[in-house]
Amino acid sequence: MIPEEKVREVAERISIVDVVSEYVPLRRAGGNFLGLCPFHAEKTPSFNVNPAREIFHCFGCGAGGNAFSFIMKMEGLSFPEAVKHLARKSGIEIEERQLTPAERKVQDEYSQFLRINELTASYYRAILLNGREGAPARDYLAVRSVKPDISEAFRLGFAPDRRDGLVKHLKNNGVKLETALKLGIIRKSDAGWYDLLRNRLIFPIRDARGQVIAFAGRVLDASLPKYINSPESPLYHKSSVLFGLDMALPSIRTTAAVIIVEGYFDHLALYQSGVQNVVATCGTALTSSHTGLIKRHAERVYTLFDSDSAGKKATIRSMELFLEQRIPAYVIALPDGDDPDSFLATHATEEFTTLRDKARPAFEYFVRTLLTETHPDSVDNKVRIIDDIVPRFRKIADSVERDLYEKEICRLLGITVHAFRKRMGGGKLTPQDTPLNYTKRAENDTIQETLLALLLYYPDARSEIVRSGLETFFTDGYLDLARLVVHRLAGSDETRSLGRLTEITENAEQRTILSRIMVADDSMANIEWRSVFEQCTRSSEKKQLASIKEIASRLATVDPNSDEYVLLLKQADALRTRKSKLEP
Ligand code: GTP
Ligand code: MN
Repeated sequence: MIPEEKVREVAERISIVDVVSEYVPLRRAGGNFLGLCPFHAEKTPSFNVNPAREIFHCFGCGAGGNAFSFIMKMEGLSFPEAVKHLARKSGIEIEERQLTPAERKVQDEYSQFLRINELTASYYRAILLNGREGAPARDYLAVRSVKPDISEAFRLGFAPDRRDGLVKHLKNNGVKLETALKLGIIRKSDAGWYDLLRNRLIFPIRDARGQVIAFAGRVLDASLPKYINSPESPLYHKSSVLFGLDMALPSIRTTAAVIIVEGYFDHLALYQSGVQNVVATCGTALTSSHTGLIKRHAERVYTLFDSDSAGKKATIRSMELFLEQRIPAYVIALPDGDDPDSFLATHATEEFTTLRDKARPAFEYFVRTLLTETHPDSVDNKVRIIDDIVPRFRKIADSVERDLYEKEICRLLGITVHAFRKRMGGGKLTPQDTPLNYTKRAENDTIQETLLALLLYYPDARSEIVRSGLETFFTDGYLDLARLVVHRLAGSDETRSLGRLTEITENAEQRTILSRIMVADDSMANIEWRSVFEQCTRSSEKKQLASIKEIASRLATVDPNSDEYVLLLKQADALRTRKSKLEP
């Protein structure tokens, strides 16, 4: 644990311009510095660094934060690691807070675990490379055309066909077997200790920093089970690990994209072919921890799953996660019966990249798959298709995208937009789902962002806004963000708090909004806040009047017994209340 004062000391000692300049050439542009964003590919600079606020923001990809978040993203580090990294550079010594005996025990055990996995990986690797016992695995890799440098990059190994080869190796290296037992790589029976993985090709599973956290072992023949993974352990939580992420990071950074496959060998085949922005799930379905991890590093994802029905299901399930998390997702479709490994064994890499470039947006792929399975040639079938689409359609967060898909779906099914929306209204609606809310969104955002900037920089404006109630001015995600900002700035040393403000939220979207506002603060400096404030309230009033009218006209066409009707009434009510609050 790093004490809070130390974090502050480091923050005060470093300059974000110096930190960023080590990675990105910057030039001055007004109050900011400008360069090419290291987090996505771009030709014209949209990456801004604001030395006064000690923050950065990219208008291209939305990445933003302070010097610590920059290093975290750049080097793939955790927050404390990033602090230490910068402390070292600025000559600040960090003696961590004295650990409690319990904390010390956990930490000691953690380094023991890592050491055991290192010993294990090296042991399997040595067996594969040298001597008689490794011969079957060497032959196997030759048959599957795995080149030596790739074998090295993956640190492939071989678990010999012995009962307790690893047990002995660990013991000889002074490892407490009870500790290794917690990693599941060895086990204990009445007849003594024995290895989990025997006579299997070994894929060490590593975290984003390259530390070995688990092992997968594949048989060399057709016997079952094909793979055995070491179990979940204090180091290994399979639902949040992406195999190969450490190797993929440099390529993810330059392409801003990541390809997700299901198999270890698929990962290896792509990597060997030079397509290196690839990760694999470790034999589990994709989870929201996986997608969270992806979002930290990439702007868009490609899924590349088998072309069988299990693969299609996985593709659609993953699409739902990507929609929820607003990660643009595409589906690479291989010819029937192929997986990436078999495809690359018989095709050139260029043929693969052609397929990748033709990848369809996941939602489009989903709709098309649905239509090939159920033909929209009867009313019954159309209803069935729409009912499959609606819950997923609701998850599309981007209003433009929703609009386009709505039209496309209606065209493909030969129904009117009105009919589609009606069906949409059939289920439970949340305010965010109503069509009204996703019209005019952009305009609304600008007003709310201006108001947020007032909250940040003008304490008097802040008091006034807080007095009238944040709900009067902010909706949706902005309301949460405004609450966080007010909470953070309440009674604090302002300038100091502002620098670390982007840390108040883990939510990537909220961070983006904050860094965008703060990096562009030139336009908000030395203004007459009250007149800006009044402009904002006037235009939001106008808009609300327009919305009330819009609601009224919709109410006239909607079935009074429907959920949608009730919801519209509620919205109209809320708007009227807000409006009356704004009036002097
Ligand atoms: P190859 O068949 O050698 O090309 O391996 P692969 O890695 O491509 O495997 P496959 O496509 O059959 O399976 C995809 C992934 O599912 C594997 O990489 C494993 O993570 C997982 N998997 C497959 N079979 C098993 C199994 O029997 N047990 C476990 N635990 N996982 C498996
Ligand atoms: Mn395979």
